[in-house]
Amino acid sequence: MGEVDPAFIQDPEHRPKLSATEVKGIPLIDLSLINSPHSVYDPRAFEGLVAEIGNACKDWGFFQVINHGRSAKGSKLLLGSSLRCLWRRRKIRRDEGNVLGYYDTEHTKNVRDWKEVFDFTVEEPTLVPASPDPEDKEETEWYNQWPEYPPELRNACEEYAREVENLALKLMGLIALGLGLPKDRFNSYFKDQTSFLRLNHYPPCPSPQLALGVGRHKDGGALTVLAQDDVGGLEVKRKTDGVWIRVKPTPNAFIINVGDVIQVWSNERYESVEHRVIVNSEKERFSIPYYLNPAHYTQVEPLEELINEQNPAKYKPYSWGKFITHRKLTQAKTLPLIDLSP
Ligand code: SIN
Ligand code: FE2
Repeated sequence: MGEVDPAFIQDPEHRPKLSATEVKGIPLIDLSLINSPHSVYDPRAFEGLVAEIGNACKDWGFFQVINHGRSAKGSKLLLGSSLRCLWRRRKIRRDEGNVLGYYDTEHTKNVRDWKEVFDFTVEEPTLVPASPDPEDKEETEWYNQWPEYPPELRNACEEYAREVENLALKLMGLIALGLGLPKDRFNSYFKDQTSFLRLNHYPPCPSPQLALGVGRHKDGGALTVLAQDDVGGLEVKRKTDGVWIRVKPTPNAFIINVGDVIQVWSNERYESVEHRVIVNSEKERFSIPYYLNPAHYTQVEPLEELINEQNPAKYKPYSWGKFITHRKLTQAKTLPLIDLSP
């Protein structure tokens, strides 16, 4: 990536304000209550935590968690150094037709993102429909494309994925309780999940006022758990006034956000919120989102417990497998995106 190619340039109304001050706006939630082996079970404190998470989902669609039960340091450092080697070698450009592996051609809303990524899935192989056409019964296999070098990358990634998956599932339990549902209400959707991890690298950009690391978008899955380094750049669109709020990196915190699937399941009690990534001319940035996604055969629709005559379903069911395959293939190739509106 040399100078900024026109493919990266955002329309004037979507260009970032680089002078924006960082605001510690999104809620910071302490999970020590559910993670410390020494904590005595306190039902009132537990209810408080459930309510805190519910309010954060409702008001922001985003929150950060600390004391989440995993030492962020070890594998994050390993990933960071492995990534540096990986990006230099660029040997694992993904195969045509596979949605996993390395690529640097992702487009968001048809503008190219200033980033390169490496995607891998947790459950392998994952069979998903080959196309969004319901008549097409063919399935594709998502398979991981690990590079030979650096050799420790695969283990580090797999270990990290398992830990972060545990956290995501625990959070889904707390979110279910906050919606008045049984804690295990969402479990069956994730039995054959299509979750995946992405290693993001945002190189320094010569024109950070024109391009974005990731253009404005909402996450399509259920829940995202993001680790980021200390450079910063993530911005969240505040629900109350549409102002872009910079998320200040908090040491050892994960950033959690609600995706479109929770928006539909909750019949819009919780909304998936727009966010984007600002780049800068001096520093590269790394981030690692984990996308918790349901099984490919899931029909995503509002949960029956959350709809009634006064509050009818706001969405028609759609096939998760067809949606995700289409989205991943088209974003990388710049074709138009699927319209998710009901
Ligand atoms: C994303 O939303 O796709 C990436 C977020 C980040 O890198 O902070
Ligand atoms: Fe995102």
